[in-house]
Amino acid sequence: MTKALYSGSFDPLTMGHLDIIRRAAKLYDELTIGIIVNPSKKAMFTLEEREEMLKEVLKDYDNVKVDHFSGLLADYVNRSGFDVVVRGLRNTTDFDYEMQMAQVNDRLFNDFTETVFLMADPRYSFISSSVVREVSSLGGNIEGLVPEEILKRMVK
Ligand code: COA
Repeated sequence: MTKALYSGSFDPLTMGHLDIIRRAAKLYDELTIGIIVNPSKKAMFTLEEREEMLKEVLKDYDNVKVDHFSGLLADYVNRSGFDVVVRGLRNTTDFDYEMQMAQVNDRLFNDFTETVFLMADPRYSFISSSVVREVSSLGGNIEGLVPEEILKRMVK
């Protein structure tokens, strides 16, 4: 059984994240969405809210579960025995950052754990959580950038 992890802040989950989750869930037996508890990033949604929103959006994905962690990604990966860490690549800026992160993590991960990259769907490659937060907080339309369940909460 192949256990994969897709981690991030998900503040909030966007259609770009959802696309990566949908595709990774098809590739691996079990996919865990690991929400990072990152005190240095000022969050719009609390960890509890993010966890709740992810569970709601992903309720029909039988092999996807939602979890959270703090500290070093590699510690969480090694502790949980993930075989694969999935990352999405939207552009060359992501590539430069992700390559460095994958190389550092490679030194820290269990021998059997690999980082695997999925190319972002071009329809979503311009989206980031902070763009969604900013457009929404200034009254702009974020329809189509986040799943319906999240749109409702953000409008509220
Ligand atoms: N679609 C849409 N948005 C995407 C995306 C995609 N496919 N991929 C990334 N993004 C967005 C994210 O929402 C995030 O947006 P924001 O910065 O505007 O909030 C941004 O792109 C950066 O994404 P990411 O690099 O995944 O940041 P993150 O904060 O969501 O998660 C961790 C970062 C958890 C993966 C990373 O910080 C980590 O591993 N931390 C643990 C500490 C550690 O181990 N450090 C050493 C690493 S070598």
